[in-house]
Amino acid sequence: MDGNGRWAKKRALPRAVGHQRGVEAVRRLVRALAPTGLECLTLYAFSSENWKRPDEEVDDLMNLMRRFIRSDLPEFVANNVKLKIIGDWQSLAPDIVAMLEDALAQTANGTQTLAVALNYGGQHEIARAAAKASAAGGGISIETIAAHLDTADLPPLDLLIRTSGEVRLSNFLLWQAAYAEMLFVDTLWPDFEPAHLTRALDDFARRERRYGGR
Ligand code: IPE
Ligand code: MG
Repeated sequence: MDGNGRWAKKRALPRAVGHQRGVEAVRRLVRALAPTGLECLTLYAFSSENWKRPDEEVDDLMNLMRRFIRSDLPEFVANNVKLKIIGDWQSLAPDIVAMLEDALAQTANGTQTLAVALNYGGQHEIARAAAKASAAGGGISIETIAAHLDTADLPPLDLLIRTSGEVRLSNFLLWQAAYAEMLFVDTLWPDFEPAHLTRALDDFARRERRYGGR
C-alpha cells in the first residue's frame, strides 16, 4: 500500500490525511472482499524499516491502527473476516499487542483471511524461520524454512500488487514471491478502489504460470 504521502502532497494536505485516506481504502477493500472469493488478502501496513520515519509520522500510523481496530473489528467479525498478523508485531506498543491479540481471538472462526504485515521485513522473516528450523533439529531446507515462516498457514502467494508506480518489493514477502505474479500500478493507495482489485484479479486470471516449466 504505497502512495499515501504523495496523495496528500498533491492536495497540499498533511501526510497524516493521506494515511487516514489510506485506511479508508483498506476499509472499502475489506468490505468488498466476500464476492472476490479470495482466500487471503495480505496488506503491507508497516515495515520494519518504517521506524526510520519521523516519530510524529510513526505515532500517526500507530494511532490510526488503534482507531481502525477499534472501529472495524465488529465488522470483521460480522463479515467472517479472519485476521492474521505477520511480522514482529509482538514488539509493538503493549496496548496495540493486546488489541491485536483480542482481534485475533474474536476473528478466529472467520472464513476469509485478512493478513496484515506489521513491523514486517521479509529478510528478517526468513532469518527467523531458518533459526527456528535449525532449533527444531530437522535441518535447514526449503521445506523446513517454509514451515516456520509467519505465513506457514496461509495459501501460496499468487499475486503481488504494488501501488503508486514504484517497481520494487521493499522487503515484502520475499520468500513467498518466488513464483508470484507481480502487478505494479500507478494508482496511489488512497485512490485504490475495489474495482482496481477486480481488474487486477482479471489480469491475473489471464496470465500463464509455468513455474520454470514450459
Ligand atoms: C504508504 O504510503 C503508507 C505506509 C508506509 C504506512 P507512503 O507514506 O509510503 O507514501 P509515499 O510513498 O510517501 O507517497
Ligand atoms: Mg512510500
